[in-house]
Amino acid sequence: MSLIAFASPKGGVGKTTVAAHVAALLARRGHKVIALDLDPQNALRLHLGISLREERCFLSRLGTHPAWREALVETEYGVRVLPFGPADPLRALELAQLLANEPQHLSEPVREMLAMPDVIVVLDTPPGPNAALAALMPRLDLMVILLLADAGSAAIIPQVANNRVLGRGTLGARAADRAVLVLNQVDDTEPLSDAVFDMARNALGPRMIGAICRDPALAEALADKRMLLNGEPGAGEDLELLTEALVKRLKLSRPGGGSGGGGTGFSALSEWGSQ
Ligand SMILES: Nc1ncnc2c1ncn2[C@@H]1O[C@H](COP(=O)(O)OP(=O)(O)OP(=O)(O)O)[C@@H](O)[C@H]1O
Ligand SMILES: [Mg+2]
Repeated sequence: MSLIAFASPKGGVGKTTVAAHVAALLARRGHKVIALDLDPQNALRLHLGISLREERCFLSRLGTHPAWREALVETEYGVRVLPFGPADPLRALELAQLLANEPQHLSEPVREMLAMPDVIVVLDTPPGPNAALAALMPRLDLMVILLLADAGSAAIIPQVANNRVLGRGTLGARAADRAVLVLNQVDDTEPLSDAVFDMARNALGPRMIGAICRDPALAEALADKRMLLNGEPGAGEDLELLTEALVKRLKLSRPGGGSGGGGTGFSALSEWGSQ
């Protein structure tokens, strides 16, 4: 059981896109994945192919409708999703207040999810600090912080490196060993992108766990109702490598019987690297 959050101080950096792909790639490896949307934009469901007509949802009904199991939506990718649901700005503020005062409304259902054997819960979060993520911070196994390979993100890299984005003092330091960086929209033909990449690698060392190239195919995938899950050259390959790195970091053992995960079951072949 693992809890992974995709988060960032910045908006529009690829949190939802990457969270959806990692969730689907983990499911493909045979893991039991629940993707939980903490963002009132309610966009995670779209990446995972859920119809706009689907009414099951979780967070927007928090406090009034506690049965998270009934809200789970199965997807064609093998990921079970808890969509945020509809929330006007007033409801979103009420929810933030509810979670700030009574975080157990969210932490308790997530504790139940994580109590199920071998479940991985993947969180998509809104940009910046938010009450829902704060409610789950104590349970987080890994926070994947996304930034772009641009000047705006470069200014934030030192804060990630010295853990200021996670809070100050002991609390921040305790969270730090669970926070890793992914640089998104890297373009090695652009000197600025290269410079930001080097800066991030120097500042974060092994805590920079992945990089994803700028790839129009990734942006187009959502519009086309598909995902890049086959190691497609470019972002597809980068997302697969990121998923592998996360699996290693979290020491997730490969479960048996993954859908589409390949594997013939002949252990010697897999040891020899032929699958
Ligand atoms: N590697 C990439 N190459 C090209 N386009 C990308 C890449 N990653 C993300 N995008 C595009 O960037 C835009 C923002 O992505 P996304 O919505 O996932 O970001 P976000 O961080 O979740 O945004 P928000 O803060 O609004 O929740 C989308 O149009 C997405 O298709
Ligand atoms: Mg998003």
